[in-house]
Amino acid sequence: MQMPTEFATDQWYVVASLDELGPEPLARTVCGRHVVLFRQTDGTVVALEDRCPHRGYPLSRGTVVGDQIQCGYHGLTFDGCGTCVWAPNQGTVPSKANVTRHVVHLTGPWVWLWVGDPAQPEVDKLPLVPWMSEPGWKVLTGMEPLAARYGTLVDNLLDLSHESYLHAGYIGTPEVATTPIETSVDEDTEVVSVRRRMKAVECPPFYSATTGLQTPIDRWQDIEYHPVGCYILHVRVAPAGIEPRPDGSDPRAAHLKVLYGITPSTRGTTLDFWALCRDFARDDEAVDDGMATMQTTVVLQDVDALDLLETRLAEMDEPPEVSLKIDAGGLAARRMIHAQIARNP
Ligand code: FES
Ligand SMILES: [Fe+2]
Repeated sequence: MQMPTEFATDQWYVVASLDELGPEPLARTVCGRHVVLFRQTDGTVVALEDRCPHRGYPLSRGTVVGDQIQCGYHGLTFDGCGTCVWAPNQGTVPSKANVTRHVVHLTGPWVWLWVGDPAQPEVDKLPLVPWMSEPGWKVLTGMEPLAARYGTLVDNLLDLSHESYLHAGYIGTPEVATTPIETSVDEDTEVVSVRRRMKAVECPPFYSATTGLQTPIDRWQDIEYHPVGCYILHVRVAPAGIEPRPDGSDPRAAHLKVLYGITPSTRGTTLDFWALCRDFARDDEAVDDGMATMQTTVVLQDVDALDLLETRLAEMDEPPEVSLKIDAGGLAARRMIHAQIARNP
């Protein structure tokens, strides 16, 4: 099962974090589509086709004026629906001068883009990520661009055994690679799950520095992947031997939801959005800083590896691979993504 390279459409992809949307227009390319994002005066997030219909200049190089965006080349001006409302030296604006308005959906700090027919967004396809917006959770976000195809990031995130090697000293300990995984696939909901439960293991710096826990800990890594664009890692760390109570409460454990928005940009580039939602030390800014710094370091270790991998992959049409037991989740994800691509309208 080769790594997919086409884009799956009729899907939601993370396109931005709210804190990226300031007074300037933001340019993003998602599944090969150029999009410009901006906020109107009431906070509404607008996503338009990033191509001026006059001569094709990117609208993202223009200016946000109130609730409108003005092209930076000859001044054509568009409202939040993509309708051209002004053109220089022109009484009536040609109706063909409009641009497509894309559909967006906000979940906490993440802005999702519907890559499909704007007239038919399927809101029920949005994965549920309540920790991003519910009280009781502190959320940190970031994004790193990857100079690699999205399939490399899917593989990377579905097999966390690489933590022991690529991220040693941060989140990797030897036990991540040596603990067996359980993989399951729900064909109806199209979710791939990979479960790894480590007992009485070393507490890596990522968690000792932020939770105060000391070795030995019980460490759970439960992956819930919604192909293509949404990956959730449910982390539970607790003193060794401490289990959740029968009623489901779990006061002695720390819980972290590690989310990734896997957003294909072009065929050889990807937007790697991350969000950390934690239920511990929620008001501790030192933990915010320490966690964001370590997460960025870890993500950049992946970026470095995947960018290098892409330079090799680009040399071959069908790169030979040898798959292992640890790849069960990644291979299931590939299969599901190929099926989604086959259903593209
Ligand atoms: S290209 Fe935008 S106004 Fe001319
Ligand atoms: Fe990684």
